[in-house]
Amino acid sequence: MKGSFMLDSRISRRAALMGASIVGAWLATPARALLQVVGKVSVPATVDQLVLRMTLEEKAGQLSLMASAWGGGAALSLNPASGGPNFVQQVEEAKQGQLTGVFNGNGATMARILQNAAVRDSRLKIPLIFAADIIHGHRTIFPVPLAEVASFEPDLARRTAEAAAFEAAGAGIDWTFSPMVDVARDQRWGRGVEGGGEDVLLGRLFAAARVHGFQGTDLKSTEHMLACIKHFAAYGAAEAGLDYNTVDMSEARLREVYLQPYKAGFDAGALSAMASFNEINGVPSTANRWLMTNLLRGEWGFEGFVVSDYTGDEEMIAHGFAKDGRDAAKLAFLAGVDMSMQSGLYRKHLPDLVRTGEVPQARLDESVRRVLALKATLGLFEDPFRRIDVKRESARSLLPKTRALAREAGRKSIVLLKNDGDLLPLPRSGKKIALIGPFAAGPHDLVGPWVVYGDDAKAIDLATGVRAALADKNGMIVAPGSKVEEALPGGIEQAVAAVRQADIVVLAIGESQDMSGEAQSRTEIVVPEPQQQLAEAVAAVGKPIVVVLKHGRALALKGAVANAQAILATWFLGTETGNSIADVLFGAYGPSGRLPASFPRASGQEPYYYAHKSTGRPNPEGKLEPYKARFRGITNTALYPFGHGLTYGKIEYSGFTQSGPAMSMNGTIEVAATVTNRGTHAAEEVVQLYVHDQVGSVTRPVRELKAFKKISLAPGQSEVVRFKLSASDLSFYGNDDKLTLEPGSFDVWIAPSAESDGVRGIFNLTA
Ligand code: NOJ
Repeated sequence: MKGSFMLDSRISRRAALMGASIVGAWLATPARALLQVVGKVSVPATVDQLVLRMTLEEKAGQLSLMASAWGGGAALSLNPASGGPNFVQQVEEAKQGQLTGVFNGNGATMARILQNAAVRDSRLKIPLIFAADIIHGHRTIFPVPLAEVASFEPDLARRTAEAAAFEAAGAGIDWTFSPMVDVARDQRWGRGVEGGGEDVLLGRLFAAARVHGFQGTDLKSTEHMLACIKHFAAYGAAEAGLDYNTVDMSEARLREVYLQPYKAGFDAGALSAMASFNEINGVPSTANRWLMTNLLRGEWGFEGFVVSDYTGDEEMIAHGFAKDGRDAAKLAFLAGVDMSMQSGLYRKHLPDLVRTGEVPQARLDESVRRVLALKATLGLFEDPFRRIDVKRESARSLLPKTRALAREAGRKSIVLLKNDGDLLPLPRSGKKIALIGPFAAGPHDLVGPWVVYGDDAKAIDLATGVRAALADKNGMIVAPGSKVEEALPGGIEQAVAAVRQADIVVLAIGESQDMSGEAQSRTEIVVPEPQQQLAEAVAAVGKPIVVVLKHGRALALKGAVANAQAILATWFLGTETGNSIADVLFGAYGPSGRLPASFPRASGQEPYYYAHKSTGRPNPEGKLEPYKARFRGITNTALYPFGHGLTYGKIEYSGFTQSGPAMSMNGTIEVAATVTNRGTHAAEEVVQLYVHDQVGSVTRPVRELKAFKKISLAPGQSEVVRFKLSASDLSFYGNDDKLTLEPGSFDVWIAPSAESDGVRGIFNLTA
């Protein structure tokens, strides 16, 4: 999704250039002393002085964030129902102190005009903050977040977040609405694509890495920006994977699974949070005082501010929780949501709510102080234009080094699901390739579903990438064969004719980028029927097939797609899509990705996740037995489980050892395995450590990932991979919702996926 980036002709260009002179005048204002603020959020005395001078209306304005209205604006095109003011009115709001900032605007030129209005023409000259959904890149687009988690390399996510911040901060953006860290265990939900997948450990590691990347070590840096942990909380647990739907779960599960990545993000230093749209146990997050105040601030010591999601406060009327807009503003604010996004309810109602005593003045001041302190921490009082520089914006855009990082991230995100007969890697010459499918060629569906500033037209499609990799440039025929969700008249015939002339088929099929993302839940998580028919027709020709899947979620594969000799999960890889895929197809890079979400055998298994409970009647493998926990016709296991991914090597696990039969509550145990590459290609293997607590006062998941290591093995090379487990790996939330550690026996696996045996042992945790 992209907005239009037209200049609003009603705003003079001269105004856009006035920023520098304004800084000088502004530095003479009382807010000048905020210069001294460094490091984490601290509330300098000058913030208090400023708060004392503010009217109730100005205070409510500091808590009101609106979509940019610039020339229709990216934000308004992403959220067309929002309506909203035109840009001239928005500039006026900035002058009146009615805006804390805007989001999803249109770059440095726009930001300069609005910032001028705030720091030159408003009474107190408080700078605006500029926010945007920089989810996986600004102009250079990296793989969608879920794909990047497949790298099992959190530092890669730190690097891409840092590169995204470099481009975005160069374009005037101070604050990203990212990372999204919602654990997603139901693949029908479309927003899993934005997050860290189904696993708690990966979720935590990637949340922290992304925060480090976006924020760096100094929030004043013009190469970094403020991160926002969202959507707090448990947005990914929506019933039936239906976006915005109800969440109802025990506090123990909430704490043990869903809250973990948010906590990791805050621990990594994220200083803003976004409330989720959903309710939890009957109370919308936006009005959930336990969540926003008791837990977040009380228990976790969070010092930043909380923003609602887009009209999330107003939506509590539809939830049946608030009577009207006034009630919604009061409930959200008193629960601990400091800032309102887009509804305008805070600026409309907070002043009166304070005058009537329904909202204490001290509570209002507290939120205003938080927002001002963070603006100071971002260096905005020191120089409101520090990130606003039109020249820097273009100088940083789509640099070769950033594109190179996108290519690296792309190839590390690809997962080789299947490679029968070692069909891959393909030769660069001597074989004719038929590149078939709606995603074979063309500047579409490359950047993914949640991109504000990136552009498919600047991205490399698959055909371009393959052509560049081939030694013989005529060694490829391209035919779409089908549209994404509709048949293409004559498409199958044309594709079959192309396949007949070829030696190998590369079949690029799957989901378009608008089939995942916000409000894009699916009932059937399959390859759309017209493409399935294309696959069946192509398979009937009898040539070897490499399926190159495009997808924003794990899919249920069947028929000719599931039966293809080779399958690559390639998600949406962004600007360097075609080059990254070609690197893997032709072996310039050996695949190293692992699934961050299980591919089920059928849509009806969802929510399917590896860390499920056993039930009293498990039937995980072998012959289907009656009266067992399984669906008719299939075992309740994954087709391709979490953690699965092949390499071009031949990896073998052997020689499990453990440092002893037992560990004590405050001790550790070391386990190890030998991992060998018996193949002829070098390989990067993600060695995974899982545990299972055999008996608990609360039943425990059949497996939980506790650690992993990515190692490189040359042909014939072996490595002993060691892991250390300690009490924190074995504790869980008990019936009293408190962390507990119970003595007993634990199974432990060192394995290549969550449902493979690898090598295993048992140890006792002793009291
Ligand atoms: C709604 C989405 O839920 C949220 O993730 C996003 O940051 C806001 N819109 C702003 O675009």
